[in-house]
Amino acid sequence: MSDAQNIQWFPGHMTRTRRQIEAQLKIIDAVAEIVDARIPVSSRNPDLAGIIADKPHLILLNKCDMADEKATAEWISYYAKQKIPAIAVDCRSGKGLSNFKDAVKNLLSDKLRGYAEKGMVGKPLRVMTVGIPNVGKSSFINRIAGNSRAKVENRPGVTRGNQWFTVDRQLELLDTPGVLWPKFEDKIVGERLAFTGAVSDRVVDVEWLAMRLLEILARDYPQMLVSRYGIDELDEDSYELLCRIGKKRGMVIRGGETDTERAANMVLEEYRNCKIGRITLERAGENA
Ligand code: G4P
Repeated sequence: MSDAQNIQWFPGHMTRTRRQIEAQLKIIDAVAEIVDARIPVSSRNPDLAGIIADKPHLILLNKCDMADEKATAEWISYYAKQKIPAIAVDCRSGKGLSNFKDAVKNLLSDKLRGYAEKGMVGKPLRVMTVGIPNVGKSSFINRIAGNSRAKVENRPGVTRGNQWFTVDRQLELLDTPGVLWPKFEDKIVGERLAFTGAVSDRVVDVEWLAMRLLEILARDYPQMLVSRYGIDELDEDSYELLCRIGKKRGMVIRGGETDTERAANMVLEEYRNCKIGRITLERAGENA
């Protein structure tokens, strides 16, 4: 990425979050990690696997309504090979969420059998939900647990201030204590988070960002660009492509030049609203 701009990210404060999560690991049975199905690598926290160590772990590929279905299926197989169950969900509509409880029970089947043998029926499974900001964690919790936020209790081992939610008598969710950051310092990660709108446009140059996106779409999803913008050639540089798209949409300023800033904002917005199509920017195995 030679021509990429150097985006300045905030380093984040993982130390505190790491301690907060580690303190809760003893009282939870599993971790449900929410990722953005369009960028399943860049929307993960790089330290999480090390923090949760061997705690049972499942992945929710959220926003699957906006991702390429085939790519999502490939990701699910990819994680399965790593013995991490994954399910595709759309927490805005609730699609796919009915599989969540079964996925948790399957993951923890040994534990459930152990409970049954000891006659500990009715002991709920406790799952910690984690995810970087904007990945859809609040939407997930709202969808699956409604407004069942538990009162702060004096349960042994349960730190005051942690947010517990009751899904039903068999399942409780703990929201992540602290904030999990993505790998901001990696330029490619930053760029992909910016494409999806997970980081604000204000910290990046929108024209440059839209050009980078067009470059990727022309390579991976050319047909979608052709049908959305009615352009027949994609083998030109991304600045020319941006200009042509802008012109097609009548975004012209004095002298017949394209208003590239407007065109860039439009392309980014149309990508984020899924108007260009269902697009996944990271493929299983390639960037993982
Ligand atoms: P967070 O707690 O992880 O920070 O994320 P949050 O649930 O607030 O979701 C961030 C944005 O992503 C919200 O949009 C939310 O509606 C959207 N979102 C969450 N899950 C899905 C999904 O599965 N599919 C789609 N298409 N969108 C999803 P927003 O524009 O910030 O808010 P709003 O306009 O929905 O209120």
